[in-house]
Amino acid sequence: MGNNLTAKILNWFGNENVSMPWRNESDVYKIWLSEIMLQQTKIETAIPYYKCWIKRFPTLFDVASATEDEVLKYWEGLGYYARVRNFRNACKDVVKNYRGVIPNNKDFIRLKGVGDYIDAAVRSIAYKIPLPVIDGNVKRVISRILMLKKIPDKCINQIRAFLYMQISKSRPGDFNQGLMDLGRLICKPQNPLCSKCPISKNCLAFVNNSVNKYPIKKKKVKIPHYIFGAGLIWKNNELLISKRNSDSMLGGLWEFPGGKKDSSESIENCIKRKIKKKLNIAITIHKKLKSVKHSYSHFQMTLYAYHCKYKGGSPKAIECANFKWISPEEINSLAFHKANHKLFNQIPAKNPCI
Ligand code: ADE
Repeated sequence: MGNNLTAKILNWFGNENVSMPWRNESDVYKIWLSEIMLQQTKIETAIPYYKCWIKRFPTLFDVASATEDEVLKYWEGLGYYARVRNFRNACKDVVKNYRGVIPNNKDFIRLKGVGDYIDAAVRSIAYKIPLPVIDGNVKRVISRILMLKKIPDKCINQIRAFLYMQISKSRPGDFNQGLMDLGRLICKPQNPLCSKCPISKNCLAFVNNSVNKYPIKKKKVKIPHYIFGAGLIWKNNELLISKRNSDSMLGGLWEFPGGKKDSSESIENCIKRKIKKKLNIAITIHKKLKSVKHSYSHFQMTLYAYHCKYKGGSPKAIECANFKWISPEEINSLAFHKANHKLFNQIPAKNPCI
């Protein structure tokens, strides 16, 4: 098995010719950016972000010289913000240590945010180095081809070894992208289109009429739900916002300060306590703005937002990276996380506490 698998994938990839703005691109920076975006994001979602990004940052030098706030603004809504903070740091590193030329050897994986996936995707596509890409789609395809008896994450060495044997030495990037496209478009998680699959005859699960049994699934764990409080702290007609620590989840993004509620306290107390802890200021609660729900990959939250009056003390960035007084119109010029975005349409132009 497998002797003609490589040719079938390459032919299928060539015939389908799926169009994406970074395909047929020789600029390694653009290929790298696209793979960072696609690492956790669907192609349709990534495309408009990619286009806006390239307009503002046509080269790696533009990223290296931009502020963290600005790159975050261009990433706002894509999630997994460590990707963009790392990408900016990696671009700075390439400018400083490689005269702006993205390394085509093992130095590439030493850059911030470059792991096995990005290394293989970028160097196979841009530099034709035969490194197999293993993403979620590829894991599913190979699990079916080989009828892997354990969940794919427990079979990574077997998957990698198989791909090293199959990968095209002359067109490794096309092979990798063909396999990813095949997983997304044909070998789908549910209702795979086996009748259209170019490699169904090479697929053990298909041949054994058991495609739906593969890949072996992980047991689902229930994700927890937490309650958060946040304060819209008003002074005259300005609001106090804080920037999240860069090593935290959603690091570098701005937010209305607050945090997770302890089970024994009231939401009002939680907001006062968290604001005192993060910014060392005292506030009084005025009235509820609204509550919103939001889901992250590892937990769900309900966020209760309250209008608050600034009482006193000068703010200090204690458990946050920075703080700022802004007018309500300035909100859109900074990058906030999605849970806070859900509050934006209810925020008045003027202080409601006076
Ligand atoms: N998923 C991530 N990168 C991809 C690429 N270059 N082609 C197709 N799917 C992908």
